[in-house]
Amino acid sequence: MSRSAANPSQASAWSPASWRGFPVEQVPHYPDAAALAAVEGQIAKFPPLVFAGEARKLKRALGDVAQGRAFLLQGGDCAEAFAEHAADNIRDFFRVFLQMAVVMTFAAASPVVKVGRIAGQFAKPRSAPNETVGGVELPSYRGDIVNGIDFDAASRIPDPQRQLDAYRQSAATLNLLRAFATGGYANLENAHRWMLGFVEDSPQSSRYEELAGRITETLGFMKAIGLDAESHQELRQTDFYTSHEALLLGYEQALTRVDSTSGDPYATSGHMLWIGDRTRQPDHGHVEYFRGIKNPIGLKCGPSLTPDGLLRLVDLLNPENEAGRLTLICRFGADQVGNHLPALVRAVEREGRTVVWSCDPMHGNTVKASTGYKTRPFERIMGEIRSFFQVHAAEGTYAGGIHLEMTGKNVTECTGGARAISDADLQDRYHTYCDPRLNAEQAIEVAFMVAELLKKERRDVPQQVAAE
Ligand code: PEP
Ligand code: CO
Repeated sequence: MSRSAANPSQASAWSPASWRGFPVEQVPHYPDAAALAAVEGQIAKFPPLVFAGEARKLKRALGDVAQGRAFLLQGGDCAEAFAEHAADNIRDFFRVFLQMAVVMTFAAASPVVKVGRIAGQFAKPRSAPNETVGGVELPSYRGDIVNGIDFDAASRIPDPQRQLDAYRQSAATLNLLRAFATGGYANLENAHRWMLGFVEDSPQSSRYEELAGRITETLGFMKAIGLDAESHQELRQTDFYTSHEALLLGYEQALTRVDSTSGDPYATSGHMLWIGDRTRQPDHGHVEYFRGIKNPIGLKCGPSLTPDGLLRLVDLLNPENEAGRLTLICRFGADQVGNHLPALVRAVEREGRTVVWSCDPMHGNTVKASTGYKTRPFERIMGEIRSFFQVHAAEGTYAGGIHLEMTGKNVTECTGGARAISDADLQDRYHTYCDPRLNAEQAIEVAFMVAELLKKERRDVPQQVAAE
């Protein structure tokens, strides 16, 4: 392969398929290439899941986040699963997510941009291609869109038919989310009432009562002057967007469409896509695919990313320096934020690049519990978020968002939190298909704590005034 063909910065001709000319990490081995091609051909004819105009609207909202005029809340399952596809899972997630958004909107006195890790979050990168259990070695589970989680040879063979199931599950999930967001379920008063229920039940309720009380008062005042959900659509509806790690590039290519309004190519599998920490090599296929789509995109930034490496990726992925195009999702580990983040922030600031800085406090804080479970201590999750805010305060930049693995269910996967889940409790309801998630109460606790940090940040660092 010639040098120019292997370097996205020099390759001029981008197409939805041009990533195929580059090395690609984390590729599943499909035994039947013809069957895979047939499925991709079929998906290429399916309707898009999202509309390019929605992706543009999200990009504008993220542009506001980059300027300190809004905050990004992104979260959902580590991996969605076919067996977990049910209305109550979607509803419970959406309900918790709205409660979190209410708390944070009030604290920051600015909009919260709501982006789920949902309706497409199926493909998982793995640290090893194979897994050995009891002396038996099989291919690793790569997410329900690729193969099955059961530890038997047949389940672990990548099956292209699973892409059709993932598409259909995404469509059905998105359909319900759209109904919730616009059909009355997202009513601000509902979300507030649910949040009060959480505060009442929490063993730490006194910590949350003050903020909750102020929101109640504000809503009461608004109602008294005629600002209620019946007469004001903004109080009844919300904008909710979808996102996932675009790991399986054949599937993403099949859902890439040229938008008839702008003539630009968009990924239509979700509103926002991100590049994982394991697939961000600047001369590889994932970066090549992402540089051509016009959606807002995320880039996971882990401890191995250098300031120069980051600037190279920023150049490739956002050459026009468009606000809202690129969200840097930082995941260093609670005790590593101070060692890595300041240099990255300074490099980006020095070059005058506009990005959203978001904090993923999950992926750098995974530990093995004494009982053998993969877990994440709540205190470390909060520690990473606090350090993230501290670095931005010191650098004069905005902590723009958080990125969480969470569920609306009462699982026991992360230790700690107000109910002090212990290593021994993990076995009670440990249901994740991949990484440990915050349960509903832990997620809302995070929102209350972020609200406090945000209130302080927005008081100390004034927002930039919009250019007229
Ligand atoms: C993930 O978000 O589930 C993930 C695999 O993250 P990262 O790429 O940051 O490791
Ligand atoms: Co994960």
